[in-house]
Amino acid sequence: MRPSLNNATTRPSSSTVPPYLPFCHHSDLLSPKTSCFIPLFPSTKYPTLQNPKSPSYPHQDPSISPAFGSLVKASMASSEPSAGAATETKPFSVLFVCLGNICRSPAAEGVFRDIVKKKGLDSKFNIDSAGTINYHEGNLSDPRMRAASKRRGIEITSISRPIRPSDFRDFDLILAMDKQNREDILKAFNRWKFRETLPADAHKKVRLMCSYCKKHDETEVPDPYYGGPQGFEKVLDLLEDACESLLDNILAENSDIRGS
Ligand code: 4NP
Repeated sequence: MRPSLNNATTRPSSSTVPPYLPFCHHSDLLSPKTSCFIPLFPSTKYPTLQNPKSPSYPHQDPSISPAFGSLVKASMASSEPSAGAATETKPFSVLFVCLGNICRSPAAEGVFRDIVKKKGLDSKFNIDSAGTINYHEGNLSDPRMRAASKRRGIEITSISRPIRPSDFRDFDLILAMDKQNREDILKAFNRWKFRETLPADAHKKVRLMCSYCKKHDETEVPDPYYGGPQGFEKVLDLLEDACESLLDNILAENSDIRGS
């Protein structure tokens, strides 16, 4: 599923993985004894024996255009309009999602938070991140990602958590770092929508992070976990580019955020 840009299928063998890293690989998933991955849903990147080749998501938007189109805003979907507070608007909610929620998506959260804060718009946004697996749940971000971000003046404080059904209600936009993340998010939605009350068109909220990049041609934010320090710098370069234009897009589409 993942094309050439992505390193998911070309990860080094376990012998080349630094000993301080928990090695997570699809072969771990195949072993019933390992506790490495507890997948929330079957993934084509980490195929299970039961589902060696998941079909691609049928309702997936083929376009990676960042245009919001007919997106139903969670921030506007207040259930009960309260008397006297008709014009009050909830914060615009953005969720960044990667695999483990310890490298790319917490960095995206930190970068976007930083840009929003510098523009004095903190109170207008709800910003969070999540992973498509829960293996790192409760953990701080990867120290390499935190260090690289800190060198650019960005503190990452988020704690890893897996994506959950309510995210499809609570967030206006869900930004996937790569195509596999997007596929896994959409599969989760397809599964959860039958047992949870979720907006029917919530899948339209899911976008690829790099669809917002203006200065880079990459279509995905590559997973830096098994690579060297340059991978973390590349992630931040892409995220800074994407986050700038993401905010511009949101402001252009939501006059209530810039105007009040
Ligand atoms: P992330 O990076 O998805 O950007 O947080 C990864 C973190 C952990 C693993 C893979 C990627 N892992 O295999 O545990």
